Amino acid sequence: MIKLTRWATALLAVIVLAPNALPSKAFAEDQDVIDYRQHIMKALDAQTAAVGQILSFSIPEDQLPSHLETIAITAKTALKSFEQNVPGGEALPAVWENWGDFTARMNDFVDRMEKAAEHAKTGGREAIMGEIVLALSCKSCHDIYREKNSKQFSCAGLSPKGHGLSPLE
Ligand code: HEC
Repeated sequence: MIKLTRWATALLAVIVLAPNALPSKAFAEDQDVIDYRQHIMKALDAQTAAVGQILSFSIPEDQLPSHLETIAITAKTALKSFEQNVPGGEALPAVWENWGDFTARMNDFVDRMEKAAEHAKTGGREAIMGEIVLALSCKSCHDIYREKNSKQFSCAGLSPKGHGLSPLE
């Protein structure tokens, strides 16, 4: 009985949702791709902001490794979200023209975040102060692959000053 209900629900879902799932025009599909990768980037931004709070000693450090691991996983999903060649949003065509370099940068970012997470597990925030600003290579990628605009994000606001991170101008 339960099985039948599940099948019935699945069938209904297919009937009801299928027409909407089919792309009615290319634009809508492209916009979905752009929205998707921007959602992922916003998640990176939020996690980076949380790391910034911990590194500036305003929040306890016990969740630092989890945030860094989350950033690594999110960056992996970010790379996948750019695989479809859809310029637009703030992504420049250079992403797909230099796909090898873009991929290498994102993978390098993932590696550095995984290493920082390991270091934070054993040595806490003090252990990663030296590497984290360089490891958060958000801005160096944006400088090449993202349109310039006035929006400021956490990644752009980190610089090695004082005891770790403080806002850039
Ligand atoms: C390897 C390149 C690369 C790296 C590394 C990278 N980004 Fe991005 N990011 C992009 C590109 C390209 C876009 C433009 C995406 C679009 O608009 O479709 C973008 C867009 C964004 C946006 C804007 C999203 C929106 O809603 O418009 C934010 C926020 C962002 N990135 C944060 C970060 C943070 C924080 C980091 C580092 C922790 C980071 N990014 C690392 C390439 C990168």
